[in-house]
Amino acid sequence: MSRIAYVNGRYVPQNEASVNIEDRGYQFGDGIYEVVHLYDGRFIDEDRHLDRLERSLRLIQLPMPVTRNALSHILQEVARKNRVREGLLYMQVTRGVAHRDHPFPAEPVSPALVVTVKRIKPYPTSIKGWGGDAITLPDLRWAHRDIKSINLLPNVLARQAAKEKGCIEAILYEEATGIVTEGAATSFWIVDEKGAIRTRALSHAILPGCTRGALMAELKEAGIAYDEREFTIDEMKRAKEAFITSATSFVKPILKIDGAPVGDGQPGPVTTQLFDIFARHVKGGMKNAA
Ligand SMILES: Cc1ncc(COP(=O)(O)O)c(C=O)c1O
Repeated sequence: MSRIAYVNGRYVPQNEASVNIEDRGYQFGDGIYEVVHLYDGRFIDEDRHLDRLERSLRLIQLPMPVTRNALSHILQEVARKNRVREGLLYMQVTRGVAHRDHPFPAEPVSPALVVTVKRIKPYPTSIKGWGGDAITLPDLRWAHRDIKSINLLPNVLARQAAKEKGCIEAILYEEATGIVTEGAATSFWIVDEKGAIRTRALSHAILPGCTRGALMAELKEAGIAYDEREFTIDEMKRAKEAFITSATSFVKPILKIDGAPVGDGQPGPVTTQLFDIFARHVKGGMKNAA
């Protein structure tokens, strides 16, 4: 069965789906995207993702292509038509089709909306085997990383460099200061040498990760302290534990960084506890559950 995609008002076989070559997403990267995890048929943290989509669109002066309710319905339809219960929903909104010219089209055009879903392996029940290694690289993306723009070339190159070294993620840092920003496609956290759970505070420097936000809500609920405080590459290298969060990876341990083990090179006790908390969140067993 061919996968079904939603493209501008129509559900079409994905291998026949196409967009216009003058779509501004294709030509300028003039658009926004979101990824939502589908677990056991449920959309994890859907509200957080749709809130962030609305915010990113607002910041680039692009209207929602359909109402939020209609978008939510389209997501459900794409999952249903593809019979996917464990997967990743991808949605992309671009500024639509117009003759190529950098400023926004003089005559308003409708934003373009595409939604696809891909099947993934179910989220593991145990943290064993879930982790992976990382490399470090300077963060070369633009200064508004809080906007979930489809311009991902630096992140594509960073992930490719990580893959070529057998790693799952590139941890990015500001070249001038050595301060860590985030992963190429994840939020990045450490348990520092004193045992504090740390991740960088929100600003233009990082994407406000939905998994990050949902995990923080669960930690607050559980009375577990965390610290939104930036750290340098050197501090990171002295950390007891490190992990990434994202809609795709949820809570995933980082075992080695640039070839050196983090702690004893195994998932640590704090990361394991947070993995378990987030697994309950995903399964709907917590107050802040999706
Ligand atoms: C650069 C970047 N940071 C962080 C994240 C994590 O965000 P979320 O938890 O909403 O998936 C992503 C996810 O794609 C990302 O691309």
